[in-house]
Amino acid sequence: MTARHGAQVLAIYRLGIDEGQATFETTVPTWEHFEAAKLPAHSHVAVDAGGDRDGDRVLGWVAAAAVSDRCAYAGVVEHSVYVHPAARGRGVGSALLAALIASTEAAGIWTIQSGVFPENTASLALHARAGFRMIGTRERIGRHHGVWRDVVLIERRSPVIS
Ligand SMILES: CC(C)(COP(=O)(O)OP(=O)(O)OC[C@H]1O[C@@H](n2cnc3c(N)ncnc32)[C@H](O)[C@@H]1OP(=O)(O)O)[C@@H](O)C(=O)NCCC(=O)NCCS
Repeated sequence: MTARHGAQVLAIYRLGIDEGQATFETTVPTWEHFEAAKLPAHSHVAVDAGGDRDGDRVLGWVAAAAVSDRCAYAGVVEHSVYVHPAARGRGVGSALLAALIASTEAAGIWTIQSGVFPENTASLALHARAGFRMIGTRERIGRHHGVWRDVVLIERRSPVIS
């Protein structure tokens, strides 16, 4: 993922936000804010290589951020994954998670974590398939459009890093 994908990445993010089951966020950040919060080596896009004249069409993205600056958590990241509604159901999300798992394991990162609304069954199924386990549910942890929402914590502990 580079700045040239920025507009498409944020447009896909906005579509996911507007569906109301992906995140507590209600607005899309600027590209500068988005990029500054992410680890570039662990932020990937899936592109339709037969894209239009302006360049590759972005089908989806995955991006990871560090969770802590404490040494013990140096190998722990938190991620987000978003696929364009028109590109869902054909393996793009799985491919993005595979790319994230490969890049993080190659960098010695041992745990990928995230929080998912329990109503987001597509995300829970996608992550279960990619080897994430459910840690538990945080009850009414935050308000989303004025409604208290639960969040399921999920994580994947790499089997190859010991
Ligand atoms: C969740 C999301 C990323 C899945 O992306 P995707 O490209 O459609 O997923 P894939 O096609 O790779 O599906 C992989 C597996 O996930 C599961 N899955 C995907 N969509 C599903 C759905 N709507 N219902 C149930 N399971 C689903 C299936 O097990 C699927 O494997 P299968 O097709 O072999 O059965 C996509 O729905 C999305 O962008 N949602 C909005 C943003 C969001 O919620 N992001 C996650 C925030 S935590």
